[in-house]
Amino acid sequence: MKFTYSNPTQIQFGQGQIASISDLIPTDQKVLVLYGGGSIKKNGVYDQVVDALKDHDWQEFSGVQPNPTIQVLDKAVAQVKEHNIDFILAVGGGSVIDGAKYVAAAAKYNGEGWDILKKRLRIEDAVSIGAILTLPATGSESNAGSVVSNEDTQEKLVFFSPLVQPKFAVMDPDVVKTLPSRQVANGIVDAWVHTCEQYITFPENALVQDGYSEALLKALKRLGETFNEQDDQWRANLMWAANQALNGLIGSGVAQDWATHMIGHELTALYGVDHARSLAIIQPWLLRNQIESKRAKLEQMGRNVFGLQSSEDLAERTIQAIEDFYHSLDVATQLTEHNGDKATAIDAIVKNLKAHGLARLGETQSVTIKHCRAILEEAVA
Ligand code: NZQ
Ligand code: ZN
Repeated sequence: MKFTYSNPTQIQFGQGQIASISDLIPTDQKVLVLYGGGSIKKNGVYDQVVDALKDHDWQEFSGVQPNPTIQVLDKAVAQVKEHNIDFILAVGGGSVIDGAKYVAAAAKYNGEGWDILKKRLRIEDAVSIGAILTLPATGSESNAGSVVSNEDTQEKLVFFSPLVQPKFAVMDPDVVKTLPSRQVANGIVDAWVHTCEQYITFPENALVQDGYSEALLKALKRLGETFNEQDDQWRANLMWAANQALNGLIGSGVAQDWATHMIGHELTALYGVDHARSLAIIQPWLLRNQIESKRAKLEQMGRNVFGLQSSEDLAERTIQAIEDFYHSLDVATQLTEHNGDKATAIDAIVKNLKAHGLARLGETQSVTIKHCRAILEEAVA
């Protein structure tokens, strides 16, 4: 086990914490408040931000869409450059926070912002960011990753830089109250798959990482089972679990998979599938396809997370339990959004994977294009 771990994002957790941004952003900084399609105006979050920033010089940029595109974000980049913005406050879900990360890096780069993703540039400088999270799911509020799309080329790509990691993340669980059930279910599934990507690999005797992953999976499972009993504790537990699932901790020093995410991103880019739903479509089939190399961890998960008894087919039953969990949340495990032409859809997804250099995926690079095709044969309806 050998790793470097640092998570410098200051967490402000709990009800009423939005007010704390008054002190967290220095008053001599010119602030851009970045947000999405307007949910924050309906649930009072926007008003709390306005109140907290009453002593700051600030302006806003709205309209960052789910699965944010450079076509919209580049307009925010221009605003940041024109007005010499020092600090970007992202108020939203993963899309807005990822968008803020792109804007922060692109505003300090002399060239096309898309190059950052397409050419995998190393970020040299970025505007500072803070986040007010309104949708627990991605963990983007305290990690260094960002996923951005290009509408023209139908691509959805990832970049990482410690320079775009938020300085602080405000997590007030009350924001979950106004989320549509579909988005709450998405949050559970995304956090669940994030944990799986760092856990269902091969045994490394990493007692702490495994134990913490199992704690998160059990918490998420319980939240799914009590989906109709959401109260303050329920919402707080979801927000904390989703954050911990992708803040770098459980993946430190262990193998990581991420094949489900990479294939899932192509489904979103091509067919607009919600991020979490793209994962539920791919993951069960990927696990079945890779069952031999993942058997030991699947058995461990079956016993420790689902409480299943040992048997020859424990790994198979664990995958079935995962699939049943998604179905219990009304999340489908097959793609229907491609409107019926299965062969064309599989070809398009495979073509994109190849174009993005994703011809070998998974913790041992054992998921080749041939495997992807086999997975998609099952995953595409
Ligand atoms: O735009 P508004 O009006 O705010 O509405 C949003 C949006 O329509 C709405 N919403 C958010 N908070 C709300 C609310 N509605 C009512 N009440 C609230 N409190 O929810 C919709 C979806 O929001 P979005 O930000 O797109 O969802 P999510 O947080 O699931 O983010 C998904 C994006 O994050 C990326 C995904 O690929 C996708 O683009 N990811 C980022 C990761 C990272 N940076 O670490 C990792 C993830 O694996 C993921 O890939
Ligand atoms: Zn995800």
